[in-house]
Amino acid sequence: MTSTGLFITLEGGDGSGKSTQAELLSTWLTDAGHTVVRTREPGGTELGVELREIVLHRRGHIAPRAEALIYAADRAHHIATKVRPAIERGEIVIQDRYLDSSVAYQGAGRVLDPVEIRNLSLWAAEGFMPDLTILLDLDESIGRERLDEARTKYDRLEAEAHDFHARVRAGYLALAEAEPDRFLVLSATGSIESIAAQVRARVEALLAA
Ligand code: TMP
Repeated sequence: MTSTGLFITLEGGDGSGKSTQAELLSTWLTDAGHTVVRTREPGGTELGVELREIVLHRRGHIAPRAEALIYAADRAHHIATKVRPAIERGEIVIQDRYLDSSVAYQGAGRVLDPVEIRNLSLWAAEGFMPDLTILLDLDESIGRERLDEARTKYDRLEAEAHDFHARVRAGYLALAEAEPDRFLVLSATGSIESIAAQVRARVEALLAA
């Protein structure tokens, strides 16, 4: 089967289960005969792996605007060299995190101007937007509990305080409200299978359209 090029992103707080859902969706689409590219930001390219290491694991302070620029640099290279070419070949890209992460984390979380952050990403990615964004919405305290069970060490963003993650969540919900056609908002507290079924239904509709 030839795939229709499609760009699907997954968003949500840390511990919301994005990677699990991305994996399930990817397997389902691959089994149906589509060519799928699974990728993520930051870190979807060789350059991105180095930028990810800096932005998430470098010891010491990184100024908020510098942090925003590192994510934007990762995004610019990723979209230009990997994502856009795949979509132009008619493939389906399933990506953990995209520009909505920057608006939620650097905008709402770090309290930078969300419009400026969005415009920075749009410039970096030459305006490239997802066909569908799945937001796995989760109370930040539950996200924290899930991370506590899964991690022995936190990265720079995960280590931020409760308030930061509460602002990120609110930032995401505001984004979804502003673009209801692009976003599918699902509660991340549902079972893995019920979330996966709702994701599949939406993607099926998109492929049929
Ligand atoms: P993850 O790949 O494990 O989700 O970790 C990426 C971290 O980086 C996560 O805490 C969210 C954060 N992040 C931003 O702050 N801004 C961004 O633009 C992106 C893509 C991620």
